[in-house]
Amino acid sequence: MAFRVTPWEVEGDVDYQKLMKEFGVKPLTKKLLQRIKAHTGELHYMLRRGIFISHRDLNWLLDEYEKGNKFFLYTGRGPSGHTHLGHLIPWIFTKWLQDKFKAELYFQMTDDEKFLFNQKLSLKQANSFAYENALDVIALGFKPGLTKIIIDSECAGVLYPLAIKVAKRLTFSVVKAVFGFKNSTNVGSIFFTSVQAVPAFLPSVLKGKNIPCLIPHGIDQDPHFRVSRDILPKLGYYKPASIHNIFFPSLKQGNKMSASLPDTAIFTTDTPELVKRKIWNAFTGGRESIEQQRRLGGNPEICPVFKYYFFLFERDDAKLEERRQACMQGKLLCGECKQELIKRVNAFLEEHQKKRKQAKGSIKKYLFKR
Ligand code: TRP
Repeated sequence: MAFRVTPWEVEGDVDYQKLMKEFGVKPLTKKLLQRIKAHTGELHYMLRRGIFISHRDLNWLLDEYEKGNKFFLYTGRGPSGHTHLGHLIPWIFTKWLQDKFKAELYFQMTDDEKFLFNQKLSLKQANSFAYENALDVIALGFKPGLTKIIIDSECAGVLYPLAIKVAKRLTFSVVKAVFGFKNSTNVGSIFFTSVQAVPAFLPSVLKGKNIPCLIPHGIDQDPHFRVSRDILPKLGYYKPASIHNIFFPSLKQGNKMSASLPDTAIFTTDTPELVKRKIWNAFTGGRESIEQQRRLGGNPEICPVFKYYFFLFERDDAKLEERRQACMQGKLLCGECKQELIKRVNAFLEEHQKKRKQAKGSIKKYLFKR
């Protein structure tokens, strides 16, 4: 089946094995996971379950770490709307990495990008979503002293002199080939990947020495960093390493959760009633009738409700497996499974929304300042 993955849109049923080959990234092998575990003592469930699936240069990063050359973390968000649960996947994992490796995190809010790529979004709107989304980042518990949030449009004085160094090495024919730009693409969009490259070497500039960088991100962002990896060594910096997660499911059949189709996604700002309605209306891997379901069992492989447990709401592997078995054997019906999920999502959001509110008071401590 045909699929297409770019940093701005994901279409069709993604074949990750094929995508990894196409992008030229390496699978996260058992051996590499063991190597991580040697430092962290345990493996995050997203690593155990293959939610993080591939990487670039992770062995090199760990070689450096073992030599005493510590790395920093870099990730980001294009603030085109409120945060949905899918956005939290790399952030939750990044928080774990920050704790385990005591690493600094640079978090980029690309309000410039969303303004440039989205016809309907004003710069002011994108900027105000950057602040909204920052509350979600802070609510996850990142350490204030170790975490710096860069809002692009407000940090131009720092970003611009570095972005033009990247841009000078980058031709139109390269970005055209990598991102599929056309002659009708606005020149801001053509330039933009230069800005996304900057946090990957900004700490090295600030501290006056080369520091390895690890970027956890959704695999759709890889084309940006393929470009960064080509150019940074030419400027005298390390190539950034990266680790990639697969996409969080839509509540409807197929596709990745999408902010542009609000009923297919749960946002961190949703009310309990809205969560209930969205999950209640979700597609499932269930049968047409209760009788058939009891007799034939459901199909968790294609079920977004099951995948919600898999990605976020059942972190105990044994319990997840029990749920899978109960579904396939027709012992667990979709109604019960949805009801339990509604309960767990709402419990999570109640806590998250409380922390989000508290974050309003501490946002200044997180904003990058030069
Ligand atoms: N372009 C990303 C988006 O649209 C935002 C982003 C900027 C990012 N820097 C990043 C994402 C680094 C992951 C890692 O969401």
